[in-house]
Amino acid sequence: MDNDHKKTIKSNQAITNNYTFLHGYPLMARLGWILFLVMTLVASGLAYQFIIKGETEVAPDGRTTLLLNDSERTFFLNEMRNFLIAVQQINDAIEKDDMPQVVSAAKKVGSGDLAHVPTGLMAKLPLAVKTMGLSTHKAFDQMAMDAEQLGDKDHSLSQLNQILPTCTACHALFKVR
Ligand code: HEC
Repeated sequence: MDNDHKKTIKSNQAITNNYTFLHGYPLMARLGWILFLVMTLVASGLAYQFIIKGETEVAPDGRTTLLLNDSERTFFLNEMRNFLIAVQQINDAIEKDDMPQVVSAAKKVGSGDLAHVPTGLMAKLPLAVKTMGLSTHKAFDQMAMDAEQLGDKDHSLSQLNQILPTCTACHALFKVR
């Protein structure tokens, strides 16, 4: 290797060194990683806010308050009263062994109901509320289907007893305002 060649290699190394930040990572690669990290933090912050936490605050009684506007709260509580109506009608039907009444009462609060949920409301609900709400609607779907196919009131009663703890669990954790 002649001297000129060696000089070129040295100056090339000097250029590379100028672009080298700690740990030998080139500056642009480091900036890339920092940008990636920041974006990931922002994305997980947003995901936490909008998917997991929803629009909430801690209530004085320790529960989590769902912060809804007037029409969302009216819709939400109306759905809740429909749940209780279904429970009452299903219980009554089981006592009378009236399986068609079990079917129709359960169907009214099945997941067909979800089509009417305002999108703004969905976005405000924490993940836990969406999950428990959805599983309650689905459990009523299953109850209606089984009542229709099996016509077994004891089975319906045990399904109702499996649904009710989700109602009480959610009420223990959340309130609305
Ligand atoms: C995903 C959570 C959740 C589930 C599941 C749930 N509820 Fe509720 N329910 C609430 C919240 C939150 C409130 C408001 C409570 C408050 O502000 O103190 C409420 C309120 C109610 C009310 C009062 C309505 C009004 O007009 O004030 C009734 C009745 C009710 N729920 C019945 C039920 C029944 C029955 C079930 C089960 C079949 C059920 N809920 C399941 C969250 C839930």
